[in-house]
Amino acid sequence: DFENEDYELKNQCGIYSCVNKMCFFVCLFVCFFTQNPKTAAMVQNMMKEGAVEALRKCFSSRMEFGTAGLRAAMGPGIACMNDLTIIQTTQGFCRYLEENFGNLKERGVVIGYDARAHPTSGGSSKHFSSLAAAVFISQGVPVHLFSDITPTPFVPFTVSHLGLCAGIMVTASHNPKQDNGYKVYWENGAQIVSPHDKGISKAIEENLEPWPESWNSEEALKNPLLKDPYQDIHREYFKVIQKHCHHRYSQHTVKIVHTSVHGVGHAFVQSAFKAFDLRPPYAVEEQKDPDPEFSTVKYPNPEEGEGVLTLSFALAEREGATVVLANDPDADRLAIAEKQESAQWRLFSGNELGALLGWWMFHCWKQQNSDAAAVKNLYMLSSTVSSKILRAVALKEGFHFEETLTGFKWMGNRARDLLDQGKTVLFAFEEAIGYMCSPSVLDKDGVSAAAIAGEMIAYLTTKNTNLSQQLATIYEEYGYHICKNSYFICHDQNVICSLFERLRNYGGQKDSYPTKCGRFSISAVRDLTTGYDNNQPDNKAVLPTSSSSQMITFNFSNGGVATMRTSGTEPKIKYYTELCAAPGNSDVKHLKKELDDLVDAIVENFFEPQKNKLQPKPE
Ligand SMILES: *[C@@H]1O[C@H](CO)[C@@H](O)[C@H](O)[C@H]1NC(C)=O
Ligand SMILES: *[C@@H]1O[C@H](CO)[C@@H](O)[C@H](O)[C@H]1NC(C)=O
Repeated sequence: DFENEDYELKNQCGIYSCVNKMCFFVCLFVCFFTQNPKTAAMVQNMMKEGAVEALRKCFSSRMEFGTAGLRAAMGPGIACMNDLTIIQTTQGFCRYLEENFGNLKERGVVIGYDARAHPTSGGSSKHFSSLAAAVFISQGVPVHLFSDITPTPFVPFTVSHLGLCAGIMVTASHNPKQDNGYKVYWENGAQIVSPHDKGISKAIEENLEPWPESWNSEEALKNPLLKDPYQDIHREYFKVIQKHCHHRYSQHTVKIVHTSVHGVGHAFVQSAFKAFDLRPPYAVEEQKDPDPEFSTVKYPNPEEGEGVLTLSFALAEREGATVVLANDPDADRLAIAEKQESAQWRLFSGNELGALLGWWMFHCWKQQNSDAAAVKNLYMLSSTVSSKILRAVALKEGFHFEETLTGFKWMGNRARDLLDQGKTVLFAFEEAIGYMCSPSVLDKDGVSAAAIAGEMIAYLTTKNTNLSQQLATIYEEYGYHICKNSYFICHDQNVICSLFERLRNYGGQKDSYPTKCGRFSISAVRDLTTGYDNNQPDNKAVLPTSSSSQMITFNFSNGGVATMRTSGTEPKIKYYTELCAAPGNSDVKHLKKELDDLVDAIVENFFEPQKNKLQPKPE
């Protein structure tokens, strides 16, 4: 504990001021571990500037290893991503895998990386990957280390394809440029779920002292245990996703623009279009090559919308293209925009793309499967906070729809279970523009989604229609699904807690949830913090519950669904609302008004009692 050490030192030496004491420890740390001179120089600079708070932040507490692995800024100290913390994490992970797999030394692991680099601290995804490889190799574990940048989905693909024990992807996806991350896949090809996170975290704590060979990434790269899967996996991946190519529209002249937003996607999306025999998309020149500075965008997140797509729209105008596809920097997600008659661009929401891709996947499946009974074996998944449009499609078409908790780790693991039971998992999505169109990758995959979307767009063009029109057709057939999501900012856990507790004790006692919200009556409540669900026979929720996060879902009798939840990583109370209209009701204006009223009622009745302690989402 830093505070106590400070105190000890003061008593022993007396001569150190508070700042100096801290620096004394930092110096010690740097002296012991000056393996990366840039990281060391960063510490020395911070000392020179007397940046006590910054130093404290870096050195006081270790990054938490969760089911999503690690995500933090690159820089010095145990709170940051650097050579030492990568080694410590990988040593722990390696020991944990040894405990779980007697045959780890036969099967091995795969490691991939994106294009991130941080010149100031000397950290980069590529360098971190080679250190992680050195750790495994030093223990005699074979490592399939990609020799070049890859999209994140290539790592889970490789785990499944080669039957490995685990996979690591060094990436911070769409985070700001100074961040990096360490994402972990289990032998089933999906991201880890509890209790693996706790087990790995414990093993990290038990293996903090770097093993001597762990630093020696250069030697490791020459070791015969190290293999480069790049060529084979590249070939195999495109062969496998080609199975999802149903028609041939190569002769078709539909023009599409693609941006990889300075990330890894460019070459892979070009290859995917080629595998689908589609006309190659126009690449946004300024953004097609990896650039750790993400120079042309404020945030490298296509979900943020228009700013990220300005250059894409300009290229599309020049080339006469009507559709823009955008991956995030590690190419596991996909955004799509389409030019409208008004000459404006429409950026589809993740839910709208879920409707379009889900419809397309089923449309293609139906064309290939004349056996009506097979539909009973078919599944689509989405997360609890995503649109329920696929439930409406499933209900009408006779296949299964299931909800999972938020995050692709849940959908990946559920898909694995279903596949193991011999089911067909056709599609899974979440509103945060994540799509799984092929079970060969049990995670979101923006590369296969881009090619499959490309084919859908080509098909629609042959039918003289387009994405916007097709989306309306889907809603006409299965019912309009209109969503509205937002959040409040709240830094006070007590306020958050009392806000949710009030809903649980609305009638004065436990489990007396509200039955009305303004003029809207509530037909069902599911509380995944406590495990209550009054839609189930014994009032017990089917989905896993987590007492450490808040999440309540209300069903309304007008077809509305609203979920309120806290975010694990941000000081937010998020809410997700949707109005699911019956097929045939296409008075969109009225439906929108009804949803607006519902959201107003929720804010007024469920949030406003704490109003002065909540900040609204910034405009
Ligand atoms: C999309 O398709 C619809 C119906 O075919 C058509 O009316 C509309 O003009 C198309 N939009 C654009 C921008 O081409
Ligand atoms: C809401 O309604 C749907 C559809 O009937 C049902 O499947 C679901 O379990 C209900 N409850 C919640 C809390 O979503």
